[in-house]
Amino acid sequence: MRLLFFASLLLCIGVIKDITARRSRTRRELAPGLHTLGIRDPGGSYCQKKGSCCPERDDACTVPYLDTICYCDLFCNRTVSDCCPDFWGFCLNISPPEGIQKVCIKNGQIYPSGATYQDNCNRCTCNTDGKWQCEQNPCLINPRIIDAVNRGSYGWNAGNYSQFWGMTLDEGIQYRLGTTKPSSSVMNMNEMHVNMDNDVLPTYFNAADKWPGMIHEPLDQGNCAGSWAFSTAGVASDRLSIQSMGHMTPALSPQNLISCDTKNQHGCRGGRVDGAWWYLRRRGIVTEECYPFSSQNTNGASTPCMMHSRSMGRGKRQATAHCPNPYASSNEIYQSTPAYRLPSNEKEIMKEIFENGPVQAIMEVHEDFFMYKTGVYRHTPVMAGEPESFRHHGTHSVRVIGWGEELAPNGQIHKYWLAANSWGKDWGEQGYFRIARGENECEIETFVVGVWGRVSMEDVAHRK
Ligand SMILES: *[C@@H]1O[C@H](CO)[C@@H](O)[C@H](O)[C@H]1NC(C)=O
Ligand SMILES: *[C@@H]1O[C@H](CO)[C@@H](O)[C@H](O)[C@H]1NC(C)=O
Repeated sequence: MRLLFFASLLLCIGVIKDITARRSRTRRELAPGLHTLGIRDPGGSYCQKKGSCCPERDDACTVPYLDTICYCDLFCNRTVSDCCPDFWGFCLNISPPEGIQKVCIKNGQIYPSGATYQDNCNRCTCNTDGKWQCEQNPCLINPRIIDAVNRGSYGWNAGNYSQFWGMTLDEGIQYRLGTTKPSSSVMNMNEMHVNMDNDVLPTYFNAADKWPGMIHEPLDQGNCAGSWAFSTAGVASDRLSIQSMGHMTPALSPQNLISCDTKNQHGCRGGRVDGAWWYLRRRGIVTEECYPFSSQNTNGASTPCMMHSRSMGRGKRQATAHCPNPYASSNEIYQSTPAYRLPSNEKEIMKEIFENGPVQAIMEVHEDFFMYKTGVYRHTPVMAGEPESFRHHGTHSVRVIGWGEELAPNGQIHKYWLAANSWGKDWGEQGYFRIARGENECEIETFVVGVWGRVSMEDVAHRK
């Protein structure tokens, strides 16, 4: 009796054991297989970490694998495999069978080989070895520069700009600048010396305070390498307004120069300021309202000239075409006198701005300048240890409208120029920047130009 009881108990336990085994076998065998989308974490250590491989079938021979488990028994090596990624390498010393592809992971998502994503200015591609491979271009917005500048004490702060995000440094130089260095004959242009007799210049000066309503807002050249046209139109606009004592305050059209001043000039692929001044004197240009900027996204492609002028005698000219903007009120042509070069002398440049208004300056733009947010800019050495491709630079031109001094936290006085850039008003200090003065920082004092507008007494008397 007792024996019988034990026998049936054993039988019972045996049956239960058998059912569990069959059930778990069923579950394991019906599972979809671990690598149908390829091996996630192909380099991971599983069987190796466990330290053993199991011969034959052993459903307990598992290791946690991502959000599930994987097996290190020989049974896993079947068509619908549930082996750990390193089973073949570690347990069998062979490479995984063909057909079990490797995939890449990003943010917990699985990507097949050939998939791509964009990381700032670089494209990353999922390789057949299950690793992302990214291009290594220096980007225009470089978080390492931003961090290094902001951690250091350079006198200015850096930040991210969405309009630059995703561009390479070389694209920034190619599309965001656009002034050709003046030739040596232009560089040797006679300098107009400013009479400096016992003058006391203020420590702070902003042309917009002295000539309210006559200094024009910073412009936005977009991805058009036309700073030669923007800085020229900007300085000419200010000078004409000042000289006419505010009787006319035209915002002159950079597009007019970009599309029409094409002799030895390259529109949105760059140009020379001396050529622009020649055109302003001999041909003249209309206002931005009449000939609006339309090349912001052309990446250098040229657009046909829509505005011509003819002589009216006495050197004056008038337009022979309607404004490209049909709603503009006037197609009047504005001209300047010949531009003049100022000495590379801080005080003389200051005096010129103080007496006659903003000047044009050519400067060298380095990789860190694109990320300028606020403060007194100086080119920093934060990329000094990097390959040369991270330290590319290009030539630009800007409009200098004043100067000042800033007391640095270390007690030093930083003298600066106040200048308008042409990267829109959300760049820098509302489109302006300050840059070290008196030390030819980025060559900003090397080639500085002033100009007179062509303003007659009748302009002053009758207009506005
Ligand atoms: C494991 O599977 C691979 C590919 O199917 C096969 O070539 C290999 O012989 C198998 N190894 C063993 C020990 O069964
Ligand atoms: C910079 O700005 C872009 C666009 O606004 C954003 O996608 C990116 O994550 C930012 N990068 C950094 C490093 O803050």
